[in-house]
Amino acid sequence: MNRVHVVHGDITKMDVDAIVNAANERMLGGGGVDGAIHRAAGPQLLAACRRVPEVSPGVRCPVGSARITDGFALRSRYVIHTVGPVWFGGSQGEHELLAACYKQCLLLAKDHHIATIAFPAISCGVYRFPPEQAAVIAAEQVYLGLRDAPDIQAVYLVAFQQAMVRIMQNAVDQYAHMA
Ligand code: APR
Repeated sequence: MNRVHVVHGDITKMDVDAIVNAANERMLGGGGVDGAIHRAAGPQLLAACRRVPEVSPGVRCPVGSARITDGFALRSRYVIHTVGPVWFGGSQGEHELLAACYKQCLLLAKDHHIATIAFPAISCGVYRFPPEQAAVIAAEQVYLGLRDAPDIQAVYLVAFQQAMVRIMQNAVDQYAHMA
């Protein structure tokens, strides 16, 4: 049974247990999907992020890591915040760090008995990760993670732009044999 789905839309509207936020290390909001999620969740989300302990000065969530908070005014009970790598051409470990984002988010989902989770295209906006390469990493890591997460019923890869739908679907089709 295929548990990975590509959808076109606004992740803040997804009716799932958790939505993933493409945040930055400070976890104090930003633009893009980070801004949209904070706007939709309301000010309590920022307050909850401020309560996440810093692991180093100004860093609450290092690149490749994930943190979980409540979703507050969002439909989703949780927000899993992750920080993708900025694209510097591909020779700075960007692929491994992006893979770690998906892996860490799914581990948190397992720990919190989350059954349905939605991801945006992490790092594909301001952080300039090439969408085709990012989609392949997302698909591979999601299918790998689901092998060890039988209780996760559905993972949604949310494309905000129409062009991203095809890119994500191609990547998912490439890895669907791993289901
Ligand atoms: N729903 C789903 N996807 C969205 C939404 C939305 N409401 N808004 C934007 N996106 C998409 C973008 O089109 C892009 O494909 O999310 C993807 C990630 O883009 P960004 O939000 O720019 O995230 P990222 O590239 O990871 O950069 C993170 O941007 O907003 C700041 O604080 C954030 O510093 C961090 C950086």
